[in-house]
Amino acid sequence: MADRKATLTVDGLDNPVELPVYSGTLGPDVVDVRGLGAEGLFTYDPGFMATSSCQSAITYIDGAKGVLLHRGYPIEQLAKESNFVEMCYLLLFGELPDDAQYADIEKRISNHTMVHDQINNFFKGFRRDAHPMSILCGVVGGLAAFYHDHMDITKAEDREISAIRLIAKMPTIAAMSYKYNIGQPFNYPRNDLNYAENFLYMMFSNPCEEYKTNPVFAKAMDRIFMLHADHEQNASTSTVRLAGSTGANPFACISAGIAALWGPAHGGANEAVLNMLDEIGDDSEENIQRFVDKAKDKDDPFRLMGFGHRVYRNFDPRAKVMKETCDEVLAELGMADDPQLKIAKRLEQIALEDEYFIERKLYPNVDFYSGIILKAMGIPTNMFTVIFAVSRTIGWISHWHEMITGDYKIGRPRQLYIGHPQRDYPAK
Ligand code: SDX
Repeated sequence: MADRKATLTVDGLDNPVELPVYSGTLGPDVVDVRGLGAEGLFTYDPGFMATSSCQSAITYIDGAKGVLLHRGYPIEQLAKESNFVEMCYLLLFGELPDDAQYADIEKRISNHTMVHDQINNFFKGFRRDAHPMSILCGVVGGLAAFYHDHMDITKAEDREISAIRLIAKMPTIAAMSYKYNIGQPFNYPRNDLNYAENFLYMMFSNPCEEYKTNPVFAKAMDRIFMLHADHEQNASTSTVRLAGSTGANPFACISAGIAALWGPAHGGANEAVLNMLDEIGDDSEENIQRFVDKAKDKDDPFRLMGFGHRVYRNFDPRAKVMKETCDEVLAELGMADDPQLKIAKRLEQIALEDEYFIERKLYPNVDFYSGIILKAMGIPTNMFTVIFAVSRTIGWISHWHEMITGDYKIGRPRQLYIGHPQRDYPAK
């Protein structure tokens, strides 16, 4: 039990309320407010600005210092030394795999990359111009209809095979969403390629010519997958946890996470950044300044997409690694002076010098540079958030797994009711 407490005095209550205070390994202490219910009180925290919804050992963020740890390892070190499949093992099982465990997880993922052939029929129901995120949301939810053989979430092996199936099939379904969108035949996954190479192959190979993996693109893709893998209790992960807390099918929970991620304030920001750079158009000083002024204008809904973060009040450490990767990919392509990159770098410089952004601690986030890299690799803008979802699936399913294997209750927040008092139905 907690040996520290918070004492709350409330006007109108006879006695102060004592609430336990807990400390984690790192980060702010928490006040356990569950006892307030017995006093007829609720907490009030729209947007969950200061609310911790659970205990977790997966990811730690220090927003003030710009620190991001996955199972204790800094993202900068993982991005440089690890790879996405190894990170999947780390996030799901809690430790880095040894050689045998790595070989096993890599093989198990490869053996589950194919989707049931009937899944192909789902795509025919969508218009060709359907946004790939809408297709992904629908098809992933539909996976729940295919795996009744292992769907007892109280069994460890059923939970694990569901996690492996999701990690393995997301790139296949994502690539199928793209191929359907452009009217090209689907590519089957290949077991001789690694995770990132396989995704690029399924995206860009076509029957008319031999596809050659570009190693720079494959490395950049793997790094983008690593940088988007998990991020504590963000909106989409909280959605997966809330859906999972009802005992819902894990594939359906991930579909709910995909829906939440799609919003431009969250995972849809990478697509919104490219649309914003297109809207800005030319990199002349006065034009860029005009858009910065629009972003600062309260009466103008325009915001600098890719800037700001609920938690980071410093540089998003992922943005730094993403910027290095962006420079590498564009240098490889001889696009170092890409006009959109020039606008992005100028925006960043202005924002870091402008009082409005400094005062509000608005720095580039993970989405600011990722879109430029993806576009340079030939990936269409409407696939950017799909790629974010492919990566974040390991984060979502690791949090789902952590919750289901621990003590949890169905999530059921309360409210501050501001509607009518009770009133009678009018006599006719
Ligand atoms: C992701 O949660 C996560 O961890 C998310 C994520 C993950 O990995 O899961 O990190 C991924 O979603 C990154 C964020 C991507 N979104 C964007 O880039 C969209 C643009 N950013 C904003 O919409 C905003 O910064 C949020 C949504 C990211 C954060 O919003 P908050 O925390 O609710 O902050 P706020 O909207 O209250 O803003 C505080 C102030 C306001 O000004 P004032 O009312 O105080 O005068 O900052 C301003 C805002 O108007 N502001 C911006 C701005 N972001 C905030 N002004 C201009 N441009 C911006 N981008």
